[in-house]
Amino acid sequence: MSFNNKNNNNSKEEEDDELKPIIETERLYLRHIIFKDIDAMFLLYSDPDVMNIIGGQEVRISKEQVIEDIKKIREQYSTNDCIGRLAVIKKDIGTNEFIGWTGLKNENNVNNHDKFIDLGYRLIKKYWNYGYATEACIACIKYGFNVKKFDKICAYVLENNQSSINVLQKCGFIKIETFISEDGNEIWFEIIRP
Ligand SMILES: CC(C)(COP(=O)(O)OP(=O)(O)OC[C@H]1O[C@@H](n2cnc3c(N)ncnc32)[C@H](O)[C@@H]1OP(=O)(O)O)[C@@H](O)C(=O)NCCC(=O)NCCS
Repeated sequence: MSFNNKNNNNSKEEEDDELKPIIETERLYLRHIIFKDIDAMFLLYSDPDVMNIIGGQEVRISKEQVIEDIKKIREQYSTNDCIGRLAVIKKDIGTNEFIGWTGLKNENNVNNHDKFIDLGYRLIKKYWNYGYATEACIACIKYGFNVKKFDKICAYVLENNQSSINVLQKCGFIKIETFISEDGNEIWFEIIRP
């Protein structure tokens, strides 16, 4: 599979390939994020309730900014040895809506951790409180351990982001320590391959 990171044009063949589910759960499937996801991605990245709680992120005010975000995410697919952030699609007859993203990626230099596998997730607000984040994250963790054979997956979260902490705990992550970043007081979580 090839990826076009330079512009926002995908050939039909590439697009069909990228729409194939990588991970599937009862209510969701996860696939690569493509440039056609721009409207839903803008909805996600322009919402202060989503962006302000994460730390280190500004609310996007233009779709051009979000195109840059999509380019960065797509670079992960070719440069990471893991899977990068993936579109979370709600299985619905006829619609199959993009509801946010989740996924694993290589991260480095956070809380004295040089290189680690990071789990991230972000959902459009109207899809909060249905259990979708937890369902998608559990599937990503299984994929990380069973398919990618990672030994450990990490996550970090601002201490006031209770919804996110809940997701990690429901997925089986263990709180390791607290640390201070430029964004504030954070909690470091880990889950080890069973
Ligand atoms: C973090 C975030 C993805 C969590 O979303 P969420 O919808 O609260 O998370 P969940 O998928 O776990 O769903 C939570 C609730 O859905 C409800 N729910 C409804 N139907 C459900 C079902 N079928 N199965 C499970 N839970 C269900 C439950 O009440 C559950 O809460 P509980 O487990 O405390 O009882 C969301 O708040 C978000 O996008 N925040 C902004 C971005 C962010 O903070 N990202 C993380 C940065 S570290």
